[in-house]
Amino acid sequence: SFALRRLHMRGKGGLCKCLQKVDTFLHRTIGTNAVGRCGSLHAVQAERLEQAQRSILISCYSRPTEKKFLKYLSRHGDVKKYFFYESYGVYAVVEFANRDGVASLLEEAVIPSVSNEALVPFKSRLLSLKNLSSVDSNQQSGLQCQPQTSIPINQLIQRLSREESIDQQVVSLTETYQLTDENIRLRFLVCSLLQDIAAAYFPECTIKPFGSSVNGFGKLGCDLDMILDLDGISGGKPKSVLSLEFQLKRANSERAVTQSILSVIGECVDQFGPGCVGVQKILNARCPLLRFAHQPSGFQCDLTASNRVAIKSTELLYLYGELDPRVRSLVFTVRCWARTHGITSGIPGAWITNFSLTIMVLFFLQKRSPPIIPTLDHLAELAGSADKCVIEGNDCTFVIDISKIQLQSNTETLEHLLREFFEFYATFAFSKMSINIRKGKEQNKPEVAPLHIQNPFETSLNISKNVNATQLDRFVALCQESLWLLQQSGTNTPRVGNRSNTATPWGLATLLLPSQVAGVKSRKKRRREPASERIKGLLDSLKNNSQPKKRKKNTK
Ligand code: CTP
Ligand code: MG
Repeated sequence: SFALRRLHMRGKGGLCKCLQKVDTFLHRTIGTNAVGRCGSLHAVQAERLEQAQRSILISCYSRPTEKKFLKYLSRHGDVKKYFFYESYGVYAVVEFANRDGVASLLEEAVIPSVSNEALVPFKSRLLSLKNLSSVDSNQQSGLQCQPQTSIPINQLIQRLSREESIDQQVVSLTETYQLTDENIRLRFLVCSLLQDIAAAYFPECTIKPFGSSVNGFGKLGCDLDMILDLDGISGGKPKSVLSLEFQLKRANSERAVTQSILSVIGECVDQFGPGCVGVQKILNARCPLLRFAHQPSGFQCDLTASNRVAIKSTELLYLYGELDPRVRSLVFTVRCWARTHGITSGIPGAWITNFSLTIMVLFFLQKRSPPIIPTLDHLAELAGSADKCVIEGNDCTFVIDISKIQLQSNTETLEHLLREFFEFYATFAFSKMSINIRKGKEQNKPEVAPLHIQNPFETSLNISKNVNATQLDRFVALCQESLWLLQQSGTNTPRVGNRSNTATPWGLATLLLPSQVAGVKSRKKRRREPASERIKGLLDSLKNNSQPKKRKKNTK
């Protein structure tokens, strides 16, 4: 809303109205704290984590009626909020007004009796609802489930094709893909459930989400990145001449400590954690982590520890997303476009990652004239003493208070920015230059790599070191193709009668149709057709009003 007020002040009419919808929604979901004002990510997280601790997750295998279900729960305390969702069966997330409600409910819960198996008697806030009434189970319960995944790409293309301008298409895509309030609650609840397991060893620890679950750029279905935070465990200072200190086990390095903690917690999650399956310990990675699936929520989870730089980069992305609503909209659009064309992937490899892509969008927005967002160096200059932050020798200081940031008056539309984005990267000097959001200016590449994007905080690192030349070429070819498409008047005009059942793709929707130049299947070297042939093919695809071809399921 802060960013929006600024846009209003600059008198942006139509675009503003569109973006207001997204913006109001975002602050209803992620960024609004109890007093109804937009808070820093830190404040928002604290509130969400506390909310999660008053919440439980219930598998409703035998579907109750909503009325009966609520009546039963209310016997234990005031229910503040609840919702249902489907993931291999129906689940309910229930938030009590205070923790006593949860305690009372857990007291009444029983250990199930099984005949052929043995049970680990670990009690958690993941429960199953049993229904002894045969009347209910035969009835249609009529529970309304909140979707936790995004719609398939073909449906999105249809939805976008019914919009009346490219600006509206971009906003509609953002609204469709962004995390819902319920999905965010579920993410924090999963963190809180895992925290209960880790707390067996470290009662003062917290497990909190970072990355796209909280940075404002997360799409429904994105993975859940979590960090085990042990910084809250502090010893205090000696208060008298005689004092006591804890005897602690020592290890050779921070890294070795992280590895052993994650290894033990991984074992625990694997063997005792209800709903956690497929636990992998990836302890030799640059940043050691546990990877597993949390079945009841359907989240793919990554748990790291002592990854404080990643928390700072999450805060930075969140801040940039808050500065101007066009930032989030453009990032969502570019991420969706890239995923559709296989530029990004759910599997690790030589692909560009969403994180790299987001930094590329931010860099592009810094390069506008006038710039839409400030450089990281400028954000560092605005920092006060409370913002000071150095992590392992890396200066991660930047201003947290958004009201201290003055933006320049850029009124470019989303449509214009999208076209310019493709043009910018279709012609960028990737072979010589490095992308640098600290300076907001490309720098000479310090090392050989097809794509060089400086890590904003660990400045000697390249966040896109994994990307090979083939993947970069595909990205550039797709930028060229999309730019070309957006320059065609046939693509740019809304089709009449698009309110009918099947709308003809136009505008942004056209960019999401299968590509003619660098299709998902053509990752192996493809014989390039002459330019005239390709253009003919593109024109045909524009003329062709048929349904888009079936695509690989978009899982991320
Ligand atoms: N990160 C980082 N440096 C990297 C990679 C990741 O600092 N080289 C941090 C970023 O804050 C990023 C977070 O780790 O947001 C999580 O990484 P990842 O899951 O790869 O990206 P997300 O932003 O969460 O995007 P996605 O939706 O693809 O998961
Ligand atoms: Mg992630």
